[in-house]
Amino acid sequence: MDPAFFELHSGLEREGPGSEASTREALARCGPLPDAPRVVDMGCGPGASAITLARALPDARIVAVDTHGPFLDALTARAAAAGVGDRIETWHGSMLDYRPPEPVDLFWSEGAAYSVGVEAALKAWRPLGAPGARVGLSELVWLSADPPPALRATLQVEYPPMGDRETLRARVASAGWRPMSDVVLPARDWANYYGPLKARAAAMRSRAVDDPAMAAVLDEADAEAALYAAHGADYGYAFIVAELPGGSP
Ligand SMILES: C[S@@+](CC[C@H](N)C(=O)[O-])C[C@H]1O[C@@H](n2cnc3c(N)ncnc32)[C@H](O)[C@@H]1O
Repeated sequence: MDPAFFELHSGLEREGPGSEASTREALARCGPLPDAPRVVDMGCGPGASAITLARALPDARIVAVDTHGPFLDALTARAAAAGVGDRIETWHGSMLDYRPPEPVDLFWSEGAAYSVGVEAALKAWRPLGAPGARVGLSELVWLSADPPPALRATLQVEYPPMGDRETLRARVASAGWRPMSDVVLPARDWANYYGPLKARAAAMRSRAVDDPAMAAVLDEADAEAALYAAHGADYGYAFIVAELPGGSP
C-alpha cells in the first residue's frame, strides 16, 4: 500500500462511516448478551467501535483485530485515554485467522468484513461462537431500486458483491447466521468519516504538486466523498445484526 495512503489515513477517529449512536443502536438490536460477554471487533481500525462497545458493555472483554499495526497502536492509546484500556486487547492479523481462547459471544465488524468477503467472514466465525452468539456488521448496500446506470456501473466494478438490504440478509443467512434486524446508517455517520478525511486531504494537497502518488491518493479520497455527496440516497451502509441459530446465550 502507498505510504501516502497510510499518511492520509493515520490519526483519524474512524476509518469508515459510523457513529457512537449507531454502534449503540446496533448493539441494542442484538438483544440480551451474557453478563460479561466476550467480544471480538474484527477489522477494528483505530478503535471507535471497540471503545464504544467497552463503554456500553462495562463487564465485557474485547479483542480488537486488525492487519494494520499502527491502527492497533492508536486504538491502545485511545482506549487507555478513555479509561477502558484494561478491557481491550489487540490482536495483529487477519480476521480469518484469529482464534479466540474461549467461545465468542459477540462478533463486531464495522465496514471491514468486505475486505475478506462477508460470507467468508461469517462462515469462519461460526465455529468460534458461543451458543446464541451474535454478530453485528455494517456493509455497503443499494438503497434505491433504480440507481443511475453510471453509478451502478461504477460501484459494480468497485465492489461486485454489493446488493440491496434484502440481498444482505440473504448473504448473512447463506453463511449460517439468522438475521435479526438491520438499519441504514444516517448521512451524519458518513460526515463523521468524510469530514475529517477531506480536511486531512486538503491539508496534504500542497505537497501533492510534486508527488503524483500522493496526488492520486488524495484525488481518490475526494472522488469517493464526492460520489457519496451526489448519491447518498442511492447507496449507503446497512448495519445488520444476526444470531447463531440453535440456542440462547
Ligand atoms: C474501512 S476500515 C474500517 C475500520 C473500523 N472498523 C472503523 O469503522 O473505523 C477497514 C479495516 O479493516 C482492516 N482490515 C482489512 N483487511 C483485514 C483482515 N483481513 N483482517 C483484519 N482486518 C482487516 C483494515 O486495516 C481497516 O482497519
